[in-house]
Amino acid sequence: MKGVILAGGLGTRLRPLTNATSKHLLPIYDQPMVYYPIQTLVRAGVEEVIIVTGGPHAGDYLSILRNGRHLGLRHLEYTYQENEGGIAEALGLCEDFADGGPVAVILGDNTTDADIRPDIERFTEGALIFLKEVHDPERYGCPVFDPADRRRILRIEEKPRDPRSNYAVSGLYLYDARVFDYIKRLKPSGRGELEITDVNNFYLDDGLLRWTELEGFWSDAGTFESLYRSTVFWAEKHLAGANGAAAAAGADAWETIEGR
Ligand code: DAU
Repeated sequence: MKGVILAGGLGTRLRPLTNATSKHLLPIYDQPMVYYPIQTLVRAGVEEVIIVTGGPHAGDYLSILRNGRHLGLRHLEYTYQENEGGIAEALGLCEDFADGGPVAVILGDNTTDADIRPDIERFTEGALIFLKEVHDPERYGCPVFDPADRRRILRIEEKPRDPRSNYAVSGLYLYDARVFDYIKRLKPSGRGELEITDVNNFYLDDGLLRWTELEGFWSDAGTFESLYRSTVFWAEKHLAGANGAAAAAGADAWETIEGR
């Protein structure tokens, strides 16, 4: 399966940091944010990726991502979203790249240590979304479950004032080629964007949407609070790994990290 990283938009919630560069190039611990979704794809066996950039700092990506070989990619393509017309608009730019096949899509500010390889390998058609239980579902796409059957989603609401579940639709999606037909049918939402939630509801209406729960850590990093949360998680995960290595070598964890 091919992969898509959506890294357009202006990152206004992270100003003034995003006055100087793109949100997705800001650091999460010791790496640019965009490395994490790329690594999720590479771990899952995806080697051909397109990245959608946008805004005034799009040129910065080239110096960090180059041809992607150093990140484990076989092929890296770039495209440019002219405006901030929404996540679904950004995905719509990838139709030629997908070339009639399915795509694994990750938002450029989403990081997870989940292993999505089995989901990718099992995927045949329709759409698969990944849910995660959260304390603030009103910040996300949020599923409404059938009270009579908790496995069944009735609809997905984007940033509901009164969330009907404690789940977020994370920014990882598997889509078959139908996604590009659905995107062509979209109308801009109240905030003037083509919404990925509307795409997911099209799949749902056609009985083609499945969901699974994302294992492990997941967060976006589009606000200072979530950027901090992501940074702490990845720093601690790194330190835990270094502690293990240090214990094996009879050294101090920070010595191991600094000696890298
Ligand atoms: O993080 C998961 C959430 O992401 C989902 O639960 C929501 O359903 C989905 O709408 C989205 O919500 P956000 O409001 O957090 O999305 P945001 O506008 O921050 O955009 C997330 C990423 O999508 C951003 O880092 C880059 C990409 N993007 C966004 C826009 C608006 C684009 O590539 N182009 C765009 O025009």
